[in-house]
Order: sequence, then C-alpha cells, then structure tokens
Amino acid sequence: MKNIVILISGRGSNMKALLSAELGCNIKAVISNKSDASGLAFARAQGIPTAILAHRDYPDRESFDAALSRLIDGYEPDFVILAGFMRILTADFVMHYAGRLINIHPSLLPAYTGLHTHARALADGVKIHGCTVHFVTPDLDHGPIIIQAAVAVLQNDTEALLAERVLQEEHRIYAQAIRGLCAGTITLGDEGKVINHNLPLPGQALISPSLPA
Ligand code: GAR
Repeated sequence: MKNIVILISGRGSNMKALLSAELGCNIKAVISNKSDASGLAFARAQGIPTAILAHRDYPDRESFDAALSRLIDGYEPDFVILAGFMRILTADFVMHYAGRLINIHPSLLPAYTGLHTHARALADGVKIHGCTVHFVTPDLDHGPIIIQAAVAVLQNDTEALLAERVLQEEHRIYAQAIRGLCAGTITLGDEGKVINHNLPLPGQALISPSLPA
C-alpha cells in the first residue's frame, strides 16, 4: 500500500475530507508550517501523527524547504499532498518530489492561478468556475492536471457562497485523485500529461446558465 504525507497551513478541510475518505493508502503524517493550524487537532484525534515546522524559524525559503523535505522524507511517502499549504515552494523542493507532489487549487486552471480566485472569477463574470487537482511543477499552479470539477456561477453569488460550493467539489475530487494515484490507475505519462487507466464514466457537459434549448 502506498504512503502519503499531507501538508496544511490552516483550516484543513481538504485534509479532513481525505482522512474521512477510503483512499486505499497509509496516511503517514500531517505536517503544518503553522502551529495554530486548526486542522492539526482533527488529524491527531484520528490517530494520525502530526508535525509542525514553522517557516518563521528559518532565515530563508531555501533553508525552510530543505528542512521540510528532510522531515517529509523521514515518513518515506510515495506522494506528498498539499492541502491548503500556503507556501511558495522552491524549485529544488519541487524537483525533489517530481511526479509525487500533488496540489489542489480553487479554480479551473490554467485560469486564475494565485490568490483570490473566486473574487477574480466573479469580477470577470465567468459563468463556470471550479477547482483543479494537479501535479506540482516549479511553474506555480501550472502542473499536469489530474482532475477538475466545474460549478455554475450563480446570478447572485458572493465570494463566500461561490467558495463554499467550489470547496464541496474540492473535497470530492481530491479524494478521487489520491485514490487513483495510490491505486496506480492514474499516472503521469512521459509527455507530462496525466493518464487515466480506468475511466468508468465519460465526462459530462456543464452548461451555465442553463437556457431553453
Ligand atoms: C482550498 O480552497 C484550497 O484549494 C486552497 O486553499 C484552501 C484551503 O482550504 N489552496 C490554494 O489556494 C493553493 N493555491 P482547507 O485548508 O480548508 O483545505
């Protein structure tokens, strides 16, 4: 069975969804760069080892990332799962975990990389928004896409309402992606594209808004 380590920075709702799902892998540890990350208590209550590595204790990004990879590697993970880990990672760190580092981002990449994705989607008036699970590469929020979920943007949406609906989908697709990676039914092909070896259902169209035919 594959081993994973999950990295969080705060609330950890994606981590909770992963811990509550049937992933078919061993969750070796949850690591946070913030001691007050509320998700840590949930992990501990589930009997998952937790560790805190405060980035403020390190003089620069390079030394923090080096210490973080030493900590992670002690758990010998097959995959390292970023679940709201709000740190920009150095290229050295990312390359060390090439093909093994996974992130979830609250937009339909490659649209809306970076922060404030929901507010920017609302400001642009897009009708479909969503979330993406992807392999991490040194180019921020641009790695090979594993799975995406789309939600309709509603007429009276606020940033909070839209974020909540996207988050529900995050919780679903992150578990699906990790399950497939750990089972080996999702792999990263030589050309940098994700391959699904066992697709039970074709994708479906989401049309938003839904108008009379
Ligand atoms: C999630 O919406 C996740 O997609 C986002 O932070 C939130 C963390 O929530 N991640 C990023 O923006 C990374 N670029 P959570 O702590 O409740 O899982």
